[in-house]
Amino acid sequence: MLTVRAIDWDEGEVVIIDQTRLPHEEVTLRLQGPDQVAEAITTLRVRGAPALGVAGALGVALAAARAAERGTDVAEAVRDAAALLAATRPTAVNLRRGVDTAVAASTGGVEATIAAGIAILDRTDMVTRAIGERGADLLGSLAKQRDLRILTHCNAGALACVGWGTALGVVATAHDRGMVARVLTCETRPLLQGARLTAWELARMGAPYDVLVDGAAAGLVVGGQVDAVVVGADRIAANGDVANKVGTLAHALAAQRAGIPFVVAAPEDTIDLDTPTGADIPIEERASDEVLAFAGQRTAPEGSTARNPAFDVTPADLVTAVVTEDRVIRPARGEHP
Ligand code: MRU
Repeated sequence: MLTVRAIDWDEGEVVIIDQTRLPHEEVTLRLQGPDQVAEAITTLRVRGAPALGVAGALGVALAAARAAERGTDVAEAVRDAAALLAATRPTAVNLRRGVDTAVAASTGGVEATIAAGIAILDRTDMVTRAIGERGADLLGSLAKQRDLRILTHCNAGALACVGWGTALGVVATAHDRGMVARVLTCETRPLLQGARLTAWELARMGAPYDVLVDGAAAGLVVGGQVDAVVVGADRIAANGDVANKVGTLAHALAAQRAGIPFVVAAPEDTIDLDTPTGADIPIEERASDEVLAFAGQRTAPEGSTARNPAFDVTPADLVTAVVTEDRVIRPARGEHP
């Protein structure tokens, strides 16, 4: 299986794979300051909730390190970087948590701040491997057959994490165990994380897969051609509602209609008990150009406007299970995280 370090720390710099260039080019970028990290987050060069947590923490670490080198006020640099980074994307709670953890560590000095960022990096790798094992066990117990046809959305793989994935980590572990007949990856309009990134990871892990347009999924699910839906999450509210990439809710509704499991795989860090329900989760609204144009070419008539919510919320009663590194929660049965 592929083990990609989508984000890493190397000799005082943050190293990322530029995910906007995949699958055609594998370009590595070295980020030297928090402004570069913020730009990489906003443009989705680095993306996915767990990787955003790491980026937030390491972005703060960069700020501390650069200020110390310049001989300027480290505390002030940390504060400014934290505000900048936390404001880049509002939905994934992991980002704010990563930033907050590094800020708290910064009272211990630059080395302590860097160590906090690296600890999140290493923990993310470990945690997602545990999610993969637990999720594959769960799929084995939930699904009616062993040769599973699994539908996933967006990219919740190693590229969205560090080394392993959440939803795609479950798929990878199940594939390693010989449980997977086929993976259906929705292309994920408008930025095509499914077609570009998940397909790239599936090809590298040698799993059989098809790319679907998002609108094809419900028909295949309700038509009995899918055994389980497995997705990641950007934030899970205290009542079990799940925010994930826009389009996820439609898969959950189709899964309920078809009577197949709808499984969410996410680290404990994605559960936000301070957010009571899905209605309280801030949903990022991105630029309308992402919808009105395709591959740089305008598709909608001049003068058209667009809505571009990047995420939607699946209500808890549609969520068969949330798999974390520690436990399986059953929101549809009324269990709360
Ligand atoms: O806008 P993105 O690409 O950052 O959205 C990513 C998702 O919605 C993922 O499914 C989620 O972050 C889980 S990643 C393990």
